[in-house]
Amino acid sequence: MPQILAIESSCDETAAAVCWDGIILSNIIATQKIHEEYGGVVPELASRAHLQAIVPVVDSALKKANVHLDQIDAFAFTQAPGLIGALLVGAEFAKSLSLACNKPLISVHHMQAHVLANCIQTTGKENSTPTFPFLCLTVSGGHTQIVLCEDYLKMRVIGETLDDAAGEAFDKSAKILGLPYPGGPLIDKYAKCGNANRYKFPEPKIDGLDFSFSGLKTAILYFVRDEKIKNENFVEENMADICASIQSRIVSILLHQLKKAADETGISDICIAGGVSANSGLRYAFEKMGLEQGWKTFIPPFEYCTDNAAMIAITGYYKYLAVIFEDLTVVPSARAVF
Ligand code: KG4
Ligand code: ZN
Repeated sequence: MPQILAIESSCDETAAAVCWDGIILSNIIATQKIHEEYGGVVPELASRAHLQAIVPVVDSALKKANVHLDQIDAFAFTQAPGLIGALLVGAEFAKSLSLACNKPLISVHHMQAHVLANCIQTTGKENSTPTFPFLCLTVSGGHTQIVLCEDYLKMRVIGETLDDAAGEAFDKSAKILGLPYPGGPLIDKYAKCGNANRYKFPEPKIDGLDFSFSGLKTAILYFVRDEKIKNENFVEENMADICASIQSRIVSILLHQLKKAADETGISDICIAGGVSANSGLRYAFEKMGLEQGWKTFIPPFEYCTDNAAMIAITGYYKYLAVIFEDLTVVPSARAVF
């Protein structure tokens, strides 16, 4: 029964988790607040904050799991993609632990891990994980992908964004509205009391299974600029309706392509994953579409949607079973396909 310690440090969360035979025993996340005042993640500051947080975060994960370092069978870390300075902190920390404890080192692709967050067993819930083959719509701050999964470690991207990611569409829209970073959760919050039919934003016509959000961003920018000329308090007075209308359009773009992918592949076990899968409008519309289409739908619990190390641990667990290990020369990579 392997026990894995996993580290995630690709962007602005320093996270560590322990999993025992595929069951998550602890999942500790330290979110870096420093970026809020800059309106986005500052890479240099992210690396420094990881350095400060990594020892206490790993220590908490071990303590919460009630596991001692010498009981760990392998060390997993996020190898790609992400901010290179941020990735280096987690990678070098995991390598040091692997060397000191003389236990295998496992590298994990962050986007593959987001997908496998759906394969984490939730205690007390029967049939809580999808059956292969399944489709996953992975929506995060840097990526928007439809992934066809044939097995835990056998996945293929069959659609992806041609420009902005869905999370960027949320965050950039929020910035236009004067909201702080990250704006996605704030748009979600305001949208709950808004009328999604009040403003109509354009839906791109994209062939195949890819996505595009740059046209939507430009449309929102011009719309807000023009309305503010007529009424300088336009955004403050209509925040809920604007947010609901933006959210509804982002969700409809995502689900339109996901339905196309399900129809084309004939696959009916469908998941969502990544930070944007925490969005309440997407979760609701996805479940509704699932009922209409006869899909079996899967959404990870909130703590496994945004960046976390539990998803790195579960991916590390399946790589451990497949005996896929790295030597100490492995280096992180800012960009990498899988
Ligand atoms: O997966 P994630 O934590 O980090 C990356 O790998 O990028 O995703 C972060 C993204 C951000 O763009 C954030 O605004 C968005 O997920 N996000 C949300 C919500 N919670 C996080 N977007 C919309 N609604 C939410 N509730
Ligand atoms: Zn992520």
